[in-house]
This record gives sequence, structure tokens and C-alpha cells, in this order.
Amino acid sequence: MSSTKKLNLSKTRLLNLGLIMTLVLSAICLFASLEQYLSIQQVRVVTTVILLLCYTLFYYWIQDRHAQAHQAHRANHQIPSASLSTESLNQNDTLIVYASQTGYAEQLALQTQTSLQQGGMQTHLLDISQLDSALLQKAQQILFIASTTGEGDAPDSAAKFTRDIMTQSLSLTHCRYAVLALGDRHYQAFCAFGHQLDHWLHQQGAKTLFDLVEVDNGDDGALRHWQHHLGVLSGHTDLADWHPAEYETWTLTERRLLNAGSQGNAVYQLRLTPPTKRDWQAGDIAEILPRRPGIEIVLPHREYSIASIPQDGAVELIVRQMQQADGGLGWGSGWLTHFAELGTAIQLRLRNNRSFHPPDSHCPLILIGNGTGIAGLRAHLKHRAQQGQRQNWLFFGERNREHDFFCQTEIEQWQTSGVLSKLDLAFSRDQPQRIYVQDKLREQAAALSEWISNGAAIYVCGSLEGMAGGVDAALREMLGDEVLETMREDGLYRRDVY
Ligand SMILES: Cc1cc2nc3c(=O)[nH]c(=O)nc-3n(C[C@H](O)[C@H](O)[C@H](O)COP(=O)(O)OP(=O)(O)OC[C@H]3O[C@@H](n4cnc5c(N)ncnc54)[C@H](O)[C@@H]3O)c2cc1C
Ligand SMILES: Cc1cc2nc3c(=O)[nH]c(=O)nc-3n(C[C@H](O)[C@H](O)[C@H](O)COP(=O)(O)O)c2cc1C
Repeated sequence: MSSTKKLNLSKTRLLNLGLIMTLVLSAICLFASLEQYLSIQQVRVVTTVILLLCYTLFYYWIQDRHAQAHQAHRANHQIPSASLSTESLNQNDTLIVYASQTGYAEQLALQTQTSLQQGGMQTHLLDISQLDSALLQKAQQILFIASTTGEGDAPDSAAKFTRDIMTQSLSLTHCRYAVLALGDRHYQAFCAFGHQLDHWLHQQGAKTLFDLVEVDNGDDGALRHWQHHLGVLSGHTDLADWHPAEYETWTLTERRLLNAGSQGNAVYQLRLTPPTKRDWQAGDIAEILPRRPGIEIVLPHREYSIASIPQDGAVELIVRQMQQADGGLGWGSGWLTHFAELGTAIQLRLRNNRSFHPPDSHCPLILIGNGTGIAGLRAHLKHRAQQGQRQNWLFFGERNREHDFFCQTEIEQWQTSGVLSKLDLAFSRDQPQRIYVQDKLREQAAALSEWISNGAAIYVCGSLEGMAGGVDAALREMLGDEVLETMREDGLYRRDVY
């Protein structure tokens, strides 16, 4: 038996013992007050103490049950720990470590590895969640490819690294490193996590191979700069140039308004058929090149959560029409929902988004989202239905039930067929006081705790502003930071928020 398991068992025993002692104490107190050995005042004080004790013990008992359920989940489903041992890391090997939220950093890490291998270098590719202090202290050369998410936050997969490693002082004077920081200048904290990582490595005595390279929204120039450094590093400056994945010509075959009469912007469900059969997974993203009839302009792609699975034979999207400051339609959403006619060729490429793929095990699933966030959740529900996995609980929020209950027929059918075992809807404007999905979560605190104790995963999709933060705060309140962080590290708390 491992020492952590022993520790947990003895903690459980202590809690059980505490609860039994509290019950015995209550019985003695009841007896003493019945026999009038204690005054009313004394009975009151003792009762308050017992109640407090009961509450505290019960709280820790629930936390303990959650922790144990997750330990059992880990053991049963063999979530991989570090896939690289220090023994298999040789002195001249280079680690390529990525921290990715929506898959782009992972894609660039793979390209970095291919380039270095072409240059004859030995490399190992690692997700940052697999990088521990032993590997850090052994590796002589590390290339980090790190994106920033939220408002200057590290990707979810880096939670353990930032909490357990970046708070330590390590001696990394033997290590040389470089950082490719991915970001977007539209955000205030541009490439914040890449810089934070760079700063921490520098503080630990690690030396830079070359200066941090910032990439603004996939900027080609910055990527070429990084490739140039890779060429110098491998001693092969004739390495093949990176070719971003090609867009393919898909066809817009259906478009349906989902929220006629809504107070909000129009939302459409679209169907895009591929040139030939294509494959993807629930959680993946479609990158679309915006166009505008009569305007020759090359714009960066826009990302949309895929709302269907390959068995549907097409990529389905749920897109809200956005408006620019001058009142015109947004480039991407306007193209898809208004300017492109049915039958129009759409330049699309699929992006693997591993951090929002289905859970590794057949665990129960809690899906939480608002607005167009139903897109990513719908793909997961379709996948679960196809796999015959029925323990699914959906929380969905929008403005008014009458106009904004996206995919209502499908959701009700899933309820009838048992694919959805629980459904909670938050229509914020159907009553005087505003109600959001996070409020529904709080209302369901007891059942939610029960599901988590049974090993459920939580998937969140939709608005970063308002929803994702509100949901995160509610979950922390109900489950505690420790449980939620462990779930995040185990891939049981995943988010696709924008
Ligand atoms: C991982 C990911 C998944 C996404 N999935 C979906 C999806 O399933 N459905 C969907 O409709 N959208 C989704 N989006 C958002 C989408 O990529 C575009 O940002 C959105 O369609 C607006 O692009 P646009 O070109 O139409 O607007 P633009 O021409 O870029 O801008 C128009 C106006 O909209 C504002 N704006 C742009 N993006 C946002 C935003 N995210 N929130 C608030 N205001 C914004 C701009 O500031 C501007 O005022 C997703 C984004 C990401 C990163
Ligand atoms: C919801 C969201 C929040 C983001 N927040 C930031 C930010 O605070 N700072 C920044 O520089 N870039 C930010 N970005 C841009 C990403 O870092 C950039 O798109 C990056 O290429 C994503 O890489 P990934 O797919 O590996 O996560 C954000 C992107 C999204 C979708």
C-alpha cells in the first residue's frame, strides 16, 4: 500500500472517530441536561460547541470522500503520470515542453520537434503537466512553447506546474532554455504566461539559448524567427520552412436561425460538408478564413467549437453574429451567418484541441455552458450518446426560454431517451432577478457533490467573461480549491471558453 493511501486511510479513520466521539458527547450532554446536571446556559454553550464540531467534521468528511473518489478514479483509469523518466533522458537530449489551452502550442511543439529531428537532434515532447522537478533538474536543454489564456493566465494544463514547481526555488544553472510565447496583442497581458515562465527560469539560474520570441496571433514573422533559432541550434540552417496546415474547401450546405425574436444577436446553426470524409473528435475546433464579397483582404482565421461528430458527416457550428464598432457585421461571424450563400466554398481547417477531448474513462459527465457554448457541449453529448454513456448532466444558460433555448428538440429527446439524466436551465431574463448557470450549480450543490464523489468530470464551454469565472468560483465554493485543482490536473475539469 502506498504511503499516501495509508495516510488517507488514517485520516478517514480519524474523521470517523471524531464523528463517533461527537455523537457520544451529544448523548452525554443530552443525558446531563435531562437529569438537570447542567444549567440552561451551560447546555446552550455545549450544544453550540457540538454543532460547530459536527459541521467542521462533516465538511472535512465530504472533502475526504471527494479526495478518495479521485484517487480511486486515478487508479482505475490509469491517467498517465510523467511519460518520460529521468533515466531515459540523456545528457544531450532536448526537451520540448508545451503549455496549450486550445491546441496551437501543441501543434507548434510538434513542428519544433520535427525541425530539430531533421537537424539530427534527440528530442522528447512533453505536455507541461508531465514536467516535474526531477526532469527539470536533469535536462540540459529545454524549449518551452507556452500560450496565455483567460486574462493573462497559464493554460489549465499548466496548473500543477505553476502551483507545485514555479513556487519552488530550484538550482537550474546547468540548464539552457528558450521560450516561444504565444498570445494576442488584443489582450492586456500579452504573452503573460510565457514571460512569467521565462522570468522564473531566469531566477532559478537557467541560461537562455536565445531571447524569448513573442507570437502575436500566429504571426508568421515571429514563427520564422523561432525557426531561424532552431536552425542555428541544430546546426542546420537549411531546415524546411514550416507550412501551416492547409485550409480545405468545405461547402456551406445548411444555415438555420436558432433564436428568432431574441433580445440578443442572431445565432445560427451551420452545416459545412467536407471535400471528402474527414475525422475529428468532440472538443475539436474549426478554423475558418473570413471573406467578404467584393473585398480582397486576408484576415486571420476565426475559431469555432465544432458542434457535431464525424458520424454526422459534416461539421456543424453554432455561431453568434457579432457587430463591429461601426455597426457592420464581424468578419468571421458575418461571413458565415450572412454574406456566404448556401453552396459557397468555405476555407476551413480542423484543429486538434486535446485539452477539450472526451474524458479518458467512462465517468459521469457534467456539461456546463451558455450561449454558443452549447456547440462544444453538443458534440460531447452526441459522442456520449453514440458510446451509450448515459450519466450526463447538462447546465445551459441563455436569456429567454421562448427564444433562446438552442437545440431544444434535441435536448428534450436526449432527456426522453435517457442520454441526459439531469438537465438544469438558467434563463436569465425570464424572471425579475437574473439567474445564471452558476446559480443553478449552487442550487444543486448536494447532487453535484454526489456526482463528483462518483468520479464525474466537469466540462465548461462558452463565454469567458461572466460565465467561466462565475462557474469556476461556484465550483470552488462547493468543492474546495484542492478538489477542483486535482480534477484539473487529472483532466476531469476542462474548459473551452472564449
Ligand atoms: C476556442 C474558441 C472557440 C470559439 N467558438 C465559438 C463558437 O462556437 N461560436 C461563436 O459564435 N463564436 C466562437 N468563438 C468566437 C469566434 O472565434 C469569433 O471571435 C467571433 O465569431 C467574432 O469574430 P468576428 O470576426 O465575427 O468579429 P470581429 O470582426 O473580430 O469583431 C467584431 C466585434 O466583436 C467583438 N468580439 C470579437 N470576439 C469576441 C468575443 N469572443 N467576445 C466578445 N466580443 C467579441 C470585437 O471586439 C468587435 O467589436 C470562439 C473563439 C475561440 C477562441
Ligand atoms: C479565451 C482566450 C483568452 C486569451 N487570453 C490571452 C491573454 O490574456 N494574453 C495573450 O497574450 N493572449 C491571450 N489569448 C491568445 C492565445 O494565447 C493565443 O490564441 C494562442 O495562440 C493560443 O494557443 P493555444 O491554442 O496553444 O492555447 C487568449 C485566447 C483565448 C481564446
